[in-house]
Amino acid sequence: MQQTIKIDNRAALGTITENDVKALEPAARKAIDTLENGNGAGNDFLGWLHLPSSISADELTDIEATAKQLRECCDYVVAIGIGGSYLGAKAVIEALSDNFAAYKPAEGARVLFAGNNIGEDYLYDLMRLLDGKNFGIVVISKSGTTTEPAIAFRLLKEKLEAQVGKAEAAKRIVAITDAKRGALRSLATEEGYKTYVIPDNVGGRFSVLTPVGLLPIAIAGFDIKALVAGAVDIEQGDNDNIIRYAATRNALYQAGKKIEILVNFNPQLHFLAEWWKQLYGESEGKDGKGIFPASVDFTTDLHSMGQWIQDGERTIFETVITVESSRNEVVIPSDNDDLDGLNYIAGKRVDQVNKMAELGTRLAHVDGGVPNLLISLPVLNERYLGQLIYFFEKACGVSGYVLDVNPFNQPGVEAYKKNMFALLGKPGYEEATKAIQARL
Ligand code: PA5
Repeated sequence: MQQTIKIDNRAALGTITENDVKALEPAARKAIDTLENGNGAGNDFLGWLHLPSSISADELTDIEATAKQLRECCDYVVAIGIGGSYLGAKAVIEALSDNFAAYKPAEGARVLFAGNNIGEDYLYDLMRLLDGKNFGIVVISKSGTTTEPAIAFRLLKEKLEAQVGKAEAAKRIVAITDAKRGALRSLATEEGYKTYVIPDNVGGRFSVLTPVGLLPIAIAGFDIKALVAGAVDIEQGDNDNIIRYAATRNALYQAGKKIEILVNFNPQLHFLAEWWKQLYGESEGKDGKGIFPASVDFTTDLHSMGQWIQDGERTIFETVITVESSRNEVVIPSDNDDLDGLNYIAGKRVDQVNKMAELGTRLAHVDGGVPNLLISLPVLNERYLGQLIYFFEKACGVSGYVLDVNPFNQPGVEAYKKNMFALLGKPGYEEATKAIQARL
């Protein structure tokens, strides 16, 4: 039988009791029924729920074929997108990659990211890197109208066409967008780009297992079939872990723990936490409520945020992602002089030391009044990442319903855009421009 990720909430009990968790389990079970029956808030965005088991082998093979073509013709492929159109692919690629891949010879194309910020120097540096290089573009935007990726795409499309000509550029550009709507769909049709569809009923932050995440991940050389198989393991498994996580975090929230810190002891998981923050932040932070999702990379941040976590305001809890086995082995050598005093750990693997740092930290934080949840993955590979991704997605839907919010909308993200468009004088925003200028 396929092994799966595990969750342990015992170190969260103390601040809350097992009974507090159990009291919320009926609500979590009801939330699962609501998701399955599609009769809750945001029910037009439930396409992710049975996505893993409904992706056909043919669809995955087609994505792999497109990835292969781009890997063969390009040294770099720039994945352009922001938010849900970026973070899932970035998280998986970082988690699976060699930490120093950027400085080693590449087998196939390197995946770079753009359109996730409006940093002028970032775009300048990227374009200088791509000067005279063979590159391709995967432009991803569900709405097809988001400003950040639109700016990056305009610049890189122009550059690619200047370097290889319009016809060859069109072969190296793939657009992932809505089936019918949006500027990107019209442009892709006009220019004859290969396209993939982001289903209407899958919101951006739940889209990593659609071509949005799968194509860049496949271009980076990773096994998307194993990733999806991992998601299917959880989709078709029982919901016990999902219920435990959703009920425990809501019980902690009700007990005044307003901030959840996702902790890793493996730097490759930094962007998994960024993906998780978007998933939970956009899903739960509304109607004046919601746990604030934060993250730290340990042991690095024990030397910066460790003091606050140990001793600061007691409104936090931690969810630690632990990876049981690292992929490689490094043993600490013995030293005749032992001037650094490290011979007491000579012969141990670095990961054994890391695990003791992890255990010691969890115990210290629990003693300091920080409840602790533990999620274990046997190893960082496609299968377990797929499991973790789907686990977090479903637990997010359940947790949002337990909190009594619509986990599938994001009305709050429009406010900055409205101001930015008014300030930039976008056509259609004339009244807003006048109003905002009067405020300045
Ligand atoms: O989760 C979301 O809906 C957002 O974060 C979007 O993914 C993000 O704003 C990008 O939108 P789009 O894909 O339409 O360009």
